[in-house]
Amino acid sequence: MSNKVWDDKHKKYAEKAWINKPNIFAEEIVQYLPNAGRLLDIGGGQGQDSRFFAGNGFNVVNLDISAAALEESKAKIPDELAAKIEHIEYDASKGLPFEDESFDVVYAHQSLHYFDAETTAAVFTEINRILRPGGVLAFFANSTSDPEYNNGEKLEEDYYFVDGKAKRFFSVESARKFAGAHFDEILCDNMGEGHKDSEKGVHNLIRYVGKKP
Ligand SMILES: C[S@@+](CC[C@H](N)C(=O)[O-])C[C@H]1O[C@@H](n2cnc3c(N)ncnc32)[C@H](O)[C@@H]1O
Repeated sequence: MSNKVWDDKHKKYAEKAWINKPNIFAEEIVQYLPNAGRLLDIGGGQGQDSRFFAGNGFNVVNLDISAAALEESKAKIPDELAAKIEHIEYDASKGLPFEDESFDVVYAHQSLHYFDAETTAAVFTEINRILRPGGVLAFFANSTSDPEYNNGEKLEEDYYFVDGKAKRFFSVESARKFAGAHFDEILCDNMGEGHKDSEKGVHNLIRYVGKKP
């Protein structure tokens, strides 16, 4: 069953000019990826980054909890990429429905920061499980320098109920703690910029890239 909160958000996103542009982070990190292979886009939403990576030689799976987002994503695939992008409606907090070592890249843009600490740790364990040795994880997330940090109801350390949903805010240290348990770091900082986030006055987001040993 789809997720109404996210389906409604995606109806608003669909009207924005940035929704069809690859995210800045996708363009920044493609240099760290292999030239081709299988790439999982967790919370890929309306598919702008899935299309970008498919255009760069990857076979992409866009996994998202929102049926509305995935319908938009399917509708926007140009014919030449149609065979290269698959869609799966799924809740990533329930585990990842893939075999061990079946992906070369796991990518997540603004989609790994909705879970409590225990679930977040489990999601990183799942990402590690489905990546092949030498595979790359690249994720981009809210940071503790966001203006929204420390607002709303505090649910646990760095985790707040804000803007209608639970949101985690990563620091460089906590990104290292969650991801570094599995991956060798290539990049970890809070210098990330996003089209949607810049519009809201949010800068300095978390950028993480790591390789599975
Ligand atoms: C802020 S949007 C980012 C979408 C897209 N990656 C982008 O950058 O435009 C967060 C995305 O994560 C998806 N999402 C949220 N919770 C999820 C979950 N538990 N499992 C899978 N996808 C989820 C939402 O539907 C949404 O598409």
